[in-house]
Amino acid sequence: MTTAELDTLRTEGLAAIDAAASPDALRDVEVRYLGRKSRLTEILRGLRDLPVEERRVFGPEGNQLRQHLEARIAQRRDELERVAEEQLLETDRLDLTLPGRRPARGAPHPLELVTSRIEDAFIGIGYKIAEGPEVDTDWNNFEALNFPPDHPTRSLMDTYFVDGPKGPGQALLRTHTSPVQIRVMELQKPPIYVICPGRVYRREDVGATSAAIFHQVEGLAVDEGLTFRHLQWTVEVFAQAAFGPGTAARLVPSFYPFTEPSAELQVTCPVCGGVGCNHCAAGWIGAGGCGMVDPNVFEFVGIDPERYTGFAFGMGVDRIAMSRYGFSDLRLLLDGDQRFLEQFRGAPVT
Ligand code: DAH
Repeated sequence: MTTAELDTLRTEGLAAIDAAASPDALRDVEVRYLGRKSRLTEILRGLRDLPVEERRVFGPEGNQLRQHLEARIAQRRDELERVAEEQLLETDRLDLTLPGRRPARGAPHPLELVTSRIEDAFIGIGYKIAEGPEVDTDWNNFEALNFPPDHPTRSLMDTYFVDGPKGPGQALLRTHTSPVQIRVMELQKPPIYVICPGRVYRREDVGATSAAIFHQVEGLAVDEGLTFRHLQWTVEVFAQAAFGPGTAARLVPSFYPFTEPSAELQVTCPVCGGVGCNHCAAGWIGAGGCGMVDPNVFEFVGIDPERYTGFAFGMGVDRIAMSRYGFSDLRLLLDGDQRFLEQFRGAPVT
């Protein structure tokens, strides 16, 4: 044991620490110079066998060397960790100045545009929105609306039935939104003012102007003292909302089992403005049916026909969209072709 040997250990140790290029390499150096089997540990352990004078010299020198190496190792470890962190920041760099990816924006569907305009107008005159299921019962879709079982009026609406026994409880795809009237009247007492938008189904050949799946908006008002004049005013509100301000409306006699009297609503053609074109019949187009609620219907749902009167209407939404936006094939409304739908991007919903 000599001071020279300690000096050599110090020089070599410090050089090895400085040369360690990674935390792992540094750990190896630490084991080599300070570990249990290192020369320095061996020296310190052997101190107690030395004569007192030598112990006095080499004890402090050996311990000082140990502390010196420990301190340098801690310092080098900090350095290496900092370098590693800087490298990580460099390689994992997030460039926050890159613009984000813009999500594709949808467009309101033309059916939605028409329906929400109508809803808005009716909410404005105090109506509520009511909805019913697309699979309904024979009772709601036909019987309670005064279509007797097996009566020829049913053939006006070629129906998709769900398998099951015939009768009032039989499930079917509703052929119109009028069953929502029954649902509302069975649950609520007058005064009733509701508007019911929805999808309906009939067995029809599919073509440019006829569809097996289409859309309606139903209206129902039940109150004391309602007359045909109230109906007339209300369908004018409808005509303006659906076809645009300036649209004129007229009622022509018609027949529905659940209204008496019944009428067809006709409006001035939104394409030619009422002068006549190949879209319309001499300036007018049919928009749907309406009438005064038949007292039989009130009896079916338990409303007193002596006390209350009411009116109802049901309009086709698809054709409104077609004439309002000027396209000639109903199938566009259900195809989901984005080239068509994108043209409504940015259209105000109400
Ligand atoms: N539901 C009828 C149809 O789809 C339209 C209709 C006519 C509805 C007269 C009514 C109404 O509410 O009163 O052809």
